[in-house]
Amino acid sequence: MSQLHRINASRLHQFVQAIWLYAGSTTEEAGLVADHLVAANLAGHDSHGVGMIPSYMASLAQGHLQLNQRPTLTKDAGAVLTLHANQGFGQVAAWEAMKLGIERAQKLGIAAVGLHHSHHIGRIGHWAEQCAAAGLVSFHFVNVMGDPMVAPFGGSDRRFGTNPFCAIFPRQNAKPLLLDFATSGIAYGKTRVAWNKGIEVAPGYLIDHQGHATTQPGVMHQQPFGSLLPFGLHKGYALATMCEILGGALSGGRTTHDATVQSNSDAIFNCMTTIILDPAAFDAPAMQEEAEAFIEWVKRSPKSGDEDIQVPGEWEEANREARDRLGIPLDATSWQQICQAAAQAGMPDEELNAFRLLAV
Ligand SMILES: NC(=O)c1ccc[n+]([C@@H]2O[C@H](COP(=O)([O-])OP(=O)(O)OC[C@H]3O[C@@H](n4cnc5c(N)ncnc54)[C@H](O)[C@@H]3O)[C@@H](O)[C@H]2O)c1
Repeated sequence: MSQLHRINASRLHQFVQAIWLYAGSTTEEAGLVADHLVAANLAGHDSHGVGMIPSYMASLAQGHLQLNQRPTLTKDAGAVLTLHANQGFGQVAAWEAMKLGIERAQKLGIAAVGLHHSHHIGRIGHWAEQCAAAGLVSFHFVNVMGDPMVAPFGGSDRRFGTNPFCAIFPRQNAKPLLLDFATSGIAYGKTRVAWNKGIEVAPGYLIDHQGHATTQPGVMHQQPFGSLLPFGLHKGYALATMCEILGGALSGGRTTHDATVQSNSDAIFNCMTTIILDPAAFDAPAMQEEAEAFIEWVKRSPKSGDEDIQVPGEWEEANREARDRLGIPLDATSWQQICQAAAQAGMPDEELNAFRLLAV
């Protein structure tokens, strides 16, 4: 297993921002990308953190990722907005899309935003947290355009992306309830993290190119490619299908099929349909008390093992607390790849060598 470094979050943020500045992003864009990637690591989702930088750099070199784009509002129907992201950084496009959706939901009580043709929008919980920070509830249906990795229930080869679903509920005196997961049993990035660390993944998540069960993450990274499996048998597959259609088709984007499927590309393009609700628009004065009563009730269930009963979102909060204090863990392979990406972006040796010292 490759060596693990611990890196201070704010120094890592400076490094990531510097990388994208050298690559050609504006200060604002580089800052939004760094905010998102470091926040994903802090939340414990290393699959969507700074380890994405080499893939983003490759996507830029291949002409897929477009720097310094702003999403274009192609239709404004009042409560429903549609935006074309122009292949720009998802960390910018989704941030702007949420900003517009939040303004509408605050005015109308409800808003929907379709965002399409966006470069990778990363950890979806980040966008839900943007809504919750404004006191709003949100739901997010996301597809990964033309980049199949997951086999349908009953199938044996890759047909659609890891299509995440996300929902958030802000609480009065606690961090929001946050459901945020891929509809595959594990996120693709988690196979990359396992592969870089030289470890297997748990059984039940992967099949090889012949449809046989395997625990080797390499089947997702070396030809002949295998597939991820949906979580929860037919139920996860059914939710993934709704993410594909609601996220990909309803948003004005594309779904995965013969005409859109792409291969040999490092680019990840997402489409997302977001519904944002103002809880104050409901006639539900006891909403918070009812939510808290339920949380307190479920947590009183006698424990079946050593693990505490958590509600969705607590796992991320616990990671934030620990990683703020102890630093962000990064395996040596990922760190090496990020440093190579920094050199590719044009960071001078002297500056890069100073940043290399962050990994001790
Ligand atoms: N942009 C994309 O194309 C894309 C695609 C797939 C996944 N993703 C992102 O990848 C990230 C990782 O996804 P994942 O599927 O690996 O997530 P995961 O399997 O780690 O599940 C995370 C969810 O489970 C909750 N959770 C964890 N432990 C819990 C417990 N004991 N009790 C109750 N709830 C608990 C968390 O709070 C969170 O809501 C997500 O942030 C997702 O948005 C993005």
